[in-house]
Amino acid sequence: WREKGAAVSTRQGTDASGQPVQRTIKKGVKDFNFGRTLGEGSYSTVLAATDRQNLKEYAIKVLDKRHIIKEKKVKYVNIERDTLNRLTDHPGIVRLYYTFQDERSLYFVLDLASGGELLGVLKKLGSFDIECTRFYAAQILDSIAYMHSKGVIHRDLKPENVLLDRDMHVKITDFGTAKILNTEVKPNGTSNASNGDTPGDPTDGFESDRAVSFVGTAEYVSPELLRDKNACKSSDLWAFGCILFQLIAGRPPFKAANEYLTFQKILGLEYSFPDGFPEVARDLVERLLVLEPANRLPVEHIRNHRFFEGSQWGKGLWRQKAPRLK
Ligand code: ADE
Repeated sequence: WREKGAAVSTRQGTDASGQPVQRTIKKGVKDFNFGRTLGEGSYSTVLAATDRQNLKEYAIKVLDKRHIIKEKKVKYVNIERDTLNRLTDHPGIVRLYYTFQDERSLYFVLDLASGGELLGVLKKLGSFDIECTRFYAAQILDSIAYMHSKGVIHRDLKPENVLLDRDMHVKITDFGTAKILNTEVKPNGTSNASNGDTPGDPTDGFESDRAVSFVGTAEYVSPELLRDKNACKSSDLWAFGCILFQLIAGRPPFKAANEYLTFQKILGLEYSFPDGFPEVARDLVERLLVLEPANRLPVEHIRNHRFFEGSQWGKGLWRQKAPRLK
């Protein structure tokens, strides 16, 4: 367990010769006041917490060590920490500030997303209008583009994993089933030495461009994952297409009585647009929900699609005030 965030203390000590030194003190449970429960998963509880020194608010994910070991989930906890440690520089991704542990638990100190899940907001409103859909879809896409540029595939994108901060801006979370590619796109657009043909060790979360393990939530799972147990960057764009459809229609495109029937629908591309679904959004969804991953619209083309006409990208998108949800 590699811990993160050796914080330089403001408290001053003195060394043997009486010279002042800044001591490096790691954050621990005692440095936070814990508050309400924000969420509960099978292996973790997320609590609101305040840093006692500066009163900054966080969400702290508390994981039970015994339970994780017993259920053989150590690998996933490490993947979550390793991916979050790669994704520290984007407003659309929940940031990991510190990790520490005590005898019983592991702690992840994360950005607090006080607006809750996008799913909750969507359920309350039923569906979004085009302006809100364009804004939230743009923020999700910008976040996906960033994680892909850092060699991370999320693999479980869905409206529950899209959180909202106090400004109602997107914060993507839950990287426990992500995949770290051994190819990272450099700022100049080229890949590093490893071209993705070299398989990574599947036990450490680092995998080659086409990987082997299954994960995901039924309604958002891509056909290639079901067919070939392969996830690639465009598998996240399939999920993005499902989310875009859901924001407008109020329901995901592929939904059936059980997982098996949902998988059948996905593999057969069996879905239909409700009456009144705007044509420009329909055109984009149809270019994302494509069975062959290589034929899905890539991120750069999605940004240039008519649906996003007038949309800002990059820093401007994150400085923008969120449209009022109605
Ligand atoms: N639930 C799970 N993670 C959360 C976070 N970072 N902020 C708020 N609620 C959450």
